[in-house]
Amino acid sequence: MPHYRSFGDIPPKRHTQHRRPDGGLYYEELMGEEGFSSDSSLLYHTGVPSAIVDAMTWEPGDLATTPNHPLKPRHLRLHDLFPGEDWKAVDPVTGRRLVLGNAEVRISYVAAGETSPLYRNAAGDECVYVEAGAGTVQTVFGALPVRAGDYVILPRSTTHRWIPGRGSGDSGVSGDSGREPLRCYVIEANSHIAPPQRYLSRYGQFLEHAPYCERDLHGPGEPVRETGTDVDVLVKHRSARGEIVGTRYVYATHPFDVVGWDGCLYPYTFNVGDFEPITGRVHQPPPVHQVFEGGGFVICNFVPRKVDYHPLSVPVPYYHSNVDSDEVMFYCGGDYEARKGSGIGPGSVSLHPGGHSHGPQPGAVERSLGAEFFDELAVMVDTFRPLELGEGGSAADDGGYAWTWAGQR
Ligand SMILES: [Fe+2]
Repeated sequence: MPHYRSFGDIPPKRHTQHRRPDGGLYYEELMGEEGFSSDSSLLYHTGVPSAIVDAMTWEPGDLATTPNHPLKPRHLRLHDLFPGEDWKAVDPVTGRRLVLGNAEVRISYVAAGETSPLYRNAAGDECVYVEAGAGTVQTVFGALPVRAGDYVILPRSTTHRWIPGRGSGDSGVSGDSGREPLRCYVIEANSHIAPPQRYLSRYGQFLEHAPYCERDLHGPGEPVRETGTDVDVLVKHRSARGEIVGTRYVYATHPFDVVGWDGCLYPYTFNVGDFEPITGRVHQPPPVHQVFEGGGFVICNFVPRKVDYHPLSVPVPYYHSNVDSDEVMFYCGGDYEARKGSGIGPGSVSLHPGGHSHGPQPGAVERSLGAEFFDELAVMVDTFRPLELGEGGSAADDGGYAWTWAGQR
């Protein structure tokens, strides 16, 4: 995030004495990327941010994966992973179920009603798409209100806590989480996640052709302050062999002790409703729908839009063999035209792997002719390495999707 923000109590000059009202010093911490050579922020703590009193292993869930072999396109029904009211006892961090993953990115899903533990992901940035519900993400930078359609971008190693429930604010007390779950589609990178470089000027400002801009990005509000001793924080990180592992730290004092911060690295939200679709006379390729990029993958979204307006246009996509990618679509609103007849609906994921040519289901091309508007909402992750199925992906697999183009189920 190249856009500078400043909140709370900071000294006029960086790396200088910053004193509390009682005359003692605040503790300055730089949080920065790429070894002091990229974006960073300076945070001012009342306690020493390094002061841990214990460390123990923590098991961050079942992250084992199974190869997609024999190679098959798949339909995964994510809502089936949290039947009935199971979500009421689940939190948005420890309740995640791994759907798909490779060495560069993991996609998981959770429907939650409980407040999460304090947590940070030291393996990479997280992009959490809120499918439904609302809540608050409290972070060391301040609180982010979140709602359906938000992408929540949490930079690597941002200590935070999820609180499902509308109107939960900064209090740490859940609001109306008893009525509906907070449904999160979680994209965890082993890298950073950012707006596509081609949308930005060489100094980082959004260019005129970008489908969104700075006004659409919402950073944290005022700092969240809590006190306490012996405070647990779950840390997800990588082993030297590239495995995802976890550690539970116990901090001497509460990490939410920041009195002010400034810089260009912080969590933020972007709502999919603020994405301005790019349309054309004939079909536009998925890169016009791109919203973010990470190491080894891109994120695109297909939003309600006017469709192709050439008099002989075919509004649904042509069949495509995207030879360098596995393509993962999460259907989260409206009615996805090209997939009618496949059983896909809200909460579905389709996996179209490299090596298999895919496109509209039988009859979809003909039905789309003459259409002027598609009321559809989908989030797509394209990876540049093959994906494997997590335990959640295997559990949600409908089993018959691969044969739907041939008219069989
Ligand atoms: Fe596709």
